[in-house]
Amino acid sequence: MTSQPQRPAFGTVLTDSMASATFKDGKWSDFSIVPVAPIQISPAAHVLHYASTCFEGFKAYRRPDGSIHVFRMDRHIARLRQSAERLILPVPDAKAVAEMVREVIRRSRAAVPDAPGALYLRPLLFGTTANIGAAATPSSEATLLVLASPVWDYFAGGMKPLRILVDDVNTRSAAHLGMVKTGGNYAAAMGPTLAARAKYQADQVLFCPGGQVQETGAANFVLLRDKQLLTRSLDASFLHGVTRDSLLAMARDLGYSVSERPFDVKEMLEWVKSGEAALSGTAAVLAGVGTLIYKDQEYRVGNGEVGPIVRDLRAKLVAIQQGDAPDAHGWLEKIS
Ligand SMILES: Cc1ncc(COP(=O)(O)O)c(C=O)c1O
Repeated sequence: MTSQPQRPAFGTVLTDSMASATFKDGKWSDFSIVPVAPIQISPAAHVLHYASTCFEGFKAYRRPDGSIHVFRMDRHIARLRQSAERLILPVPDAKAVAEMVREVIRRSRAAVPDAPGALYLRPLLFGTTANIGAAATPSSEATLLVLASPVWDYFAGGMKPLRILVDDVNTRSAAHLGMVKTGGNYAAAMGPTLAARAKYQADQVLFCPGGQVQETGAANFVLLRDKQLLTRSLDASFLHGVTRDSLLAMARDLGYSVSERPFDVKEMLEWVKSGEAALSGTAAVLAGVGTLIYKDQEYRVGNGEVGPIVRDLRAKLVAIQQGDAPDAHGWLEKIS
């Protein structure tokens, strides 16, 4: 057996440079490229007390010819701006953020791994006004950083079917903030996710408030069978995944009947008797579910393995992302 090189865990290594811009006196500064290093903020900074922060996560891929292509950056920047708006944070200009991302990718060119690895881009916006009495006052100052991290194949060890705890009690966010990519939502999912891991050896929790299937702590949820795809319709209560959107477009191109509507736990448990279930997101692309755990009972999804539809759709989406299949929707931008 050949030994795999030791690779750092997802997100633990940053490249050398980051882009930084600040908002003050009602306007954004030009951005600068600075070495990745600890930053200084006031201990009274708004973000540290009132969680005024949002972020994004998306990938750029290196092709065999050395060119680097970023996947659906415009969508991710639009979502960052939407998050900022909903958190009453200064909204950065879309073109300026795109240029920050491009410049970070250029500076990190040598650190972009070969596919299936990628350069993960992480724009991060937070309120910096120094005022510990600002619980109901938005931050008038903010910082925007763009970080980059080389990441490797999420499935290097093979595609393992996931164990998912179905939770119809807890929620991962306030109902109006689910569509906002903000730290507090991940903090809210942490306790239930760790408890599910300890009690049921579950990989993730599928939040189903009021019995309606929503999403997991860090990915969207889809059901698949016989050229049909079912997923919850967009509303404010969950994150509008760019992978979800890409998957739906791709499935429609492939002749799937795509249903976006609310559905409940009962319908999901019925579906998985013969169908497939998967999580979708930037990190995992499409990850197959093998087991659902609900009210202390285990439900096998299909035959309990990652199914053929999940494997096929995943391979097709990855092929587009990595430049091995035509980019019919114009999702990739080459970084010059
Ligand atoms: C809560 C949550 N839902 C869904 C997603 C999937 O979104 P995307 O496909 O844009 O990565 C993510 C990952 O970013 C997430 O954190």
